[in-house]
Amino acid sequence: MASTLAAGVAIVPMRWWHLESVFHIEEDIFSDEPWTPSMFWSELAEYETRSYFVATAESTTSVPNRADDDIVGYAGLCVYPEEAFVQTIAVRRDWQRQGVGTLLLRTLIGQASSRGAPRLELEVRADNYVAQHLYETHGFRRVGVRKGYYQHGRTDAVLMSLDLLRHHSGNERRP
Ligand SMILES: CC(C)(COP(=O)(O)OP(=O)(O)OC[C@H]1O[C@@H](n2cnc3c(N)ncnc32)[C@H](O)[C@@H]1OP(=O)(O)O)[C@@H](O)C(=O)NCCC(=O)NCCS
Repeated sequence: MASTLAAGVAIVPMRWWHLESVFHIEEDIFSDEPWTPSMFWSELAEYETRSYFVATAESTTSVPNRADDDIVGYAGLCVYPEEAFVQTIAVRRDWQRQGVGTLLLRTLIGQASSRGAPRLELEVRADNYVAQHLYETHGFRRVGVRKGYYQHGRTDAVLMSLDLLRHHSGNERRP
């Protein structure tokens, strides 16, 4: 249960002053093809259709953290009336496997649902089994494959979709 994981972590809307920390994580986690800072700025500017969040950790020592030490993950959503897309989700390496990704994904699902989208979709690398597992445990189903989508045609993208109407009504069964 995420409520017992990631103790001391809060999910808050992403603001411009978080972007420097977010970009440090982005460069580390997605070193092959990181988003540029201007891509994040553009996403935040599209506030009518975007919802971005950061996971912040309380300091566990008496020494105050630098501001960028507090950001331990982030995630973003694009929402239209017909569908919503997970734009990105990432957790800082030293904070992975502690429930932060689960908290962030649940936040995106809740946002997409409350903004009225009937389904939530995403693309994930075919070799990213950790992320696929996270999505599947939240009810996402594989709905297709884009051949050679990543890295100059060498890696496929798996398309996944979550039916938010069934998920919201509690009829979605976990695998
Ligand atoms: C995918 C990602 C966001 C998950 O974040 P996280 O905070 O580690 O996830 P959680 O701690 O909430 O764990 C979620 C599940 O994944 C499992 N998991 C997480 N890391 C794992 C690992 N390295 N190996 C095996 N399982 C792992 C957890 O055990 C948990 O499974 P459970 O619910 O069955 O117990 C994180 O690994 C990440 O940032 N990866 C790099 C970026 C990425 O791939 N983003 C997705 C792009 S589509």
